[in-house]
Amino acid sequence: MTNPAFNAEARVEKPDVGIDPKSRERLAQGMAQSLADTFALYVKTLGVHWNVVGPSFYGLHKLTEAQYEDLAGAIDALAERIRALGYPAPAGFNDFRTLSVVNAESRIETVGEMLQELIDDNEVVARRMRKVSDLAAEAEDKFSEDMLIGRMGVHEKNVWMLRALVTE
Ligand SMILES: [Fe+2]
Repeated sequence: MTNPAFNAEARVEKPDVGIDPKSRERLAQGMAQSLADTFALYVKTLGVHWNVVGPSFYGLHKLTEAQYEDLAGAIDALAERIRALGYPAPAGFNDFRTLSVVNAESRIETVGEMLQELIDDNEVVARRMRKVSDLAAEAEDKFSEDMLIGRMGVHEKNVWMLRALVTE
């Protein structure tokens, strides 16, 4: 899915920092997907933070707080990197919904379902970032590659911590 913000009228800047223009465009498109996935996960993590009930309330409420605060910082960093690559950052719910592969339908009936949903979401975000980090490597964009690798590590850690709270 291409970034709706990358339309013909959009002003594309051409920073001359040693990254091939074609590779830079492909990477900026991929990073727009990573941004949208991160945004979708941020919204869903907030939903669990607000709606969790039961004996695991405090632990999951605090864990999701740490996770959504981290995701908020990542959203800004990814968007600013897309701008540094010369492209417009997607903005608004429609753009994010179009670009994200995170399941938009959130199940909030039980704590077990909430946990499984966030585990699945962190996994899908990490899997797609792995592909985008390959685009960064092809573009020889070390900064973006480093950023994406760091984000993958965070999602993998999130999966571990959420899985550790699964009781059945
Ligand atoms: Fe809160």
